[in-house]
Amino acid sequence: VISGAALVGAGVGLDRVLGASGSENSSDAAQIQGSDSSVAFHGAHQAGIATPPQAHLSFVSFDLTTESQAALKGVLRRWTAAAAAITAGRQYVGPGRSRSLPPADPGESLGLSPARLTLTFGFGPTLFAQDDEDRFGIGRRRPAALRPLPRFSGEMIEQASSGGDLCVQACAEDPQTTFHAIHLMAMLAADEARMRWLQVGFRTQPAGGTGTGRNLLGFKDGIRNLRTGDAAALSEFVWVGHDDQPGWMRGGTYLVARRIEIVLSAWDGLTLAEQERAIGRHKLSGAPLGARDEHDRVNLAAVDRQGNLIIPIEAHVRVASPETNRGLRILRRGYSFSRGATPGPADRGGHQLDGGLFFIGFTRDLERFAALQRRVLSRDALNEFTIHTASAVFAIPPGVRPGGSIGDQLFS
Ligand code: HEM
Repeated sequence: VISGAALVGAGVGLDRVLGASGSENSSDAAQIQGSDSSVAFHGAHQAGIATPPQAHLSFVSFDLTTESQAALKGVLRRWTAAAAAITAGRQYVGPGRSRSLPPADPGESLGLSPARLTLTFGFGPTLFAQDDEDRFGIGRRRPAALRPLPRFSGEMIEQASSGGDLCVQACAEDPQTTFHAIHLMAMLAADEARMRWLQVGFRTQPAGGTGTGRNLLGFKDGIRNLRTGDAAALSEFVWVGHDDQPGWMRGGTYLVARRIEIVLSAWDGLTLAEQERAIGRHKLSGAPLGARDEHDRVNLAAVDRQGNLIIPIEAHVRVASPETNRGLRILRRGYSFSRGATPGPADRGGHQLDGGLFFIGFTRDLERFAALQRRVLSRDALNEFTIHTASAVFAIPPGVRPGGSIGDQLFS
């Protein structure tokens, strides 16, 4: 019998609650901690954003079935209490539980360490207004830029796996830990919300978690990303600032999710040189074309002896670069996914391997993000091999103070 207040798991012995900072970059690798440690839940910003990415993702979107603000706040309060417990390696103990009720915590992570679990909560545009209806009396507090991304040419968005009123991003070093986290969140909201869609993902990092991982194109991904330990850059590009509106979002950010299928059969048919020209980097080293090391400068002006650009005009690193997007930088924190085998081309029968990138980007400026997205979708070499099939944006409120609740700034 598990006593309600029991502390669970090896992680509890470690009273070591780490700050949610650090980087996936080797240059500040020292800040990356062991896989059995915990990441602080409380803080100025929510964890799971400027947290060096963990290996596993479960991302879930909910639609509320209630129209009561009090019920919404109840969900957020229970989620806060549960998230604070399980990210610290404790079991969730529901209020007033007794042994004649089902367990408050389903228990899949009993005996596991916190595995650097982070939970990040967000509010979708429909929370503020749906069909012009202000369901929760917060319509006037909607961030002006919080609306679904516009439609882009070439995308094939499935509405059923896009959008949503609330999101929960669970990241951890252990896939059962992320499953448990979203299972518990779904249980705690069962009377007020239904799950709209769910996405799981994975990412790997070589060299003991300090090198740059590869995506399912086989290329290193995240080389020239914002560094999670670079506080100045995060303030400039990620965190909603002190002068920004609405005030309740200060210290928060916006999350853009895009499920991007990779047409592996087409990509696999390219020569190495063609693949490298599509990205603008060398596959093995990750170096910009014409350079040696992955961290060498991306020189977009460099030309060969014939005067041709070394990094082609449609190469992904050129099209997405800050230099060609008026200095815009975003924090990319996406995860690879595979849904197994999907039916192959009709003329060949059989099945093909499914794989893609569940792109997650954090930005304080959704308008500028949309401009970047439009540019990528209209001129990037990768478009021949990728299909955007799902899309979502969420306002990520600031972090939770001890004793506070997720998003309480929105209601105060
Ligand atoms: C399946 C889809 C995608 C794949 C496989 C992919 C892959 C990559 C790779 C391999 C790099 C170079 C390494 C690096 O610096 O991180 C990169 C860079 C980048 N990607 Fe993507 N990407 C995808 C979609 C997107 C989308 C949709 C966006 C934004 C709308 C985006 C934004 C960026 C940015 C901003 C960079 C850094 C460019 C630079 O500063 O050099 N990517 N991506």
